[in-house]
Amino acid sequence: MKFNENYRKLKESYLFSAVAHKVSAYTAAHPDKKVLKMGIGDVTLPLPPAVVSAMQAAVAEMGTKETFRGYGPEQGYDFLRESIRGYYTRRGISLAADEIFISDGAKSDLGNILDIFSVDNTVLIPDPVYPVYVDTNVMAGRRILFADATEENGFLPMPDDGVKADIIYICSPNNPTGAAYSVAQLQEWVNYARKQGAVILYDAAYERFVSGQGLARSIFETEGAEECAIEFCSFSKTAGFTGTRCGYTVVPHALRRGDVSCNKLWLRRQTTKFNGVPYIVQRGAAAVFTAEGERQVEENLSVYRRNARRLTDCMDVLGIRYTGGKNSPYVWLKCPGFADSRKFFDYLLEEANVVGTPGSGFGKNGQGWFRLTAFSSEEATEEAVFRIKKLFSK
Ligand code: MLT
Repeated sequence: MKFNENYRKLKESYLFSAVAHKVSAYTAAHPDKKVLKMGIGDVTLPLPPAVVSAMQAAVAEMGTKETFRGYGPEQGYDFLRESIRGYYTRRGISLAADEIFISDGAKSDLGNILDIFSVDNTVLIPDPVYPVYVDTNVMAGRRILFADATEENGFLPMPDDGVKADIIYICSPNNPTGAAYSVAQLQEWVNYARKQGAVILYDAAYERFVSGQGLARSIFETEGAEECAIEFCSFSKTAGFTGTRCGYTVVPHALRRGDVSCNKLWLRRQTTKFNGVPYIVQRGAAAVFTAEGERQVEENLSVYRRNARRLTDCMDVLGIRYTGGKNSPYVWLKCPGFADSRKFFDYLLEEANVVGTPGSGFGKNGQGWFRLTAFSSEEATEEAVFRIKKLFSK
């Protein structure tokens, strides 16, 4: 027996597990300190009432012989796929219900999708970015190229015709920088991908935070994306499903190479390796798209937006450079007085008892940068702002 040798090339632990470990060690050693957690992008507001009612009704159905359900369709129930289709239609994007696959979250699908692509492909990944893209490709042993996202390009790298890639990752609004592509910029990526015969894996987990004029919420707002892109979405950050688990992936029928349909391969993969998201969870997810659900999700998002504003106002007062916070729940700041993100992490934890995520954990270009999330409670965010101001106004 041999293990997958590629695992040796990974960092010892996944970024957010490493941060959680450090924080637990700190709190165990300092039980008297009130640590404010603004590291991992985990939501704090409960599921919207419309979601809870829909789940309760589904639980009752599952407890009655006449309405009980066993295995569901691996790719998701029609009622949820239709609700998601309607959500796209309202934004002017036309999809077929069977182009939408329900999953237990964007993270799983972003990793699992690689099953249908050869390990011989070269992948192009922005740096910095959500570490799952790099780690899952390292595990498989694919060749990785990086697209540098820096302060100079507004953390929005654009395609370079001199670079040849087969699989291109785009995350917009970006995790961790909060930078969001405009439709026109995404169109350039789509044109590039089509020229190269590449596929774009588009992570739209934070699309509901986008409000800026001309900014994209879906890759399918561009022309020709249906021939070259797969979109990953999540209920986690919008409807509080981080613990409940539900997401969806759009794999267009037009995405083909010769007689091979990407949608068919993904369906084959999912029906073989996945047994679907629980009925109760899917009923809850469908409630997000009802009028009541939409209103309640917007109320929750407005709390997180206010928190982001509190954080960016704080950076403005202190004169700390940052991006994000406007179209994103993440504020990405230049570590004041520190060149090393991890040292800044330790300093902020020890001196202000505030946890963030070191930018270097998202890639080499994140060195010297730091991410704070707006997903904490309003009280915790206000307290964090107070402590940060006190620490850096000295
Ligand atoms: C993050 O903090 O970047 C996210 O919460 C991680 C995730 O969604 O898996």
